[in-house]
Amino acid sequence: MTTVFVLNGPNLNLLGRREPHVYGSTTLADIETLVRGKAETLGAAIMFRQSNHEGQLVDWIQEAGAQGAGIVINAGAYTHTSIALRDAISGSGAPTVEIHISNVHAREGFRHRSLIAPVSVGVICGFGPMSYLLGLEAVHQVMVERARQAKPSQH
Ligand code: DQA
Repeated sequence: MTTVFVLNGPNLNLLGRREPHVYGSTTLADIETLVRGKAETLGAAIMFRQSNHEGQLVDWIQEAGAQGAGIVINAGAYTHTSIALRDAISGSGAPTVEIHISNVHAREGFRHRSLIAPVSVGVICGFGPMSYLLGLEAVHQVMVERARQAKPSQH
């Protein structure tokens, strides 16, 4: 069974109340329920966490790497600023998918740059809460394929 850490950064605890015209009315608890449902169909175990603190996110990324888990991360504003998160992701070796609820490329210029995208497998943004489900499916597929390639051939 694959394990995926679904990590949420600053202000995402306020989803549902925070700028609903941008982020919608779905709460983070609602998203966790959706993610857990999807994980069940994929056969993946989920660690779903949120912190407003950069160092806490670094600790969780390191934990995911040490466990051989994958990561789906909505790093919030730290996406655009955090060398610490970037170093944690690249150092952890954990396959990581960066996600965003909003289409960051259709917003302010400072949101167009991601420091973590270059060390992630890929980026999904703009699909609302569905970004989490697409991210989970993507990282799960990557992990299954890597495990298959690592297995010695049966012949
Ligand atoms: C966000 C986009 C970021 O630019 C912003 O700082 C957030 C949320 C998103 O999910 O759309 O906090 O990551």
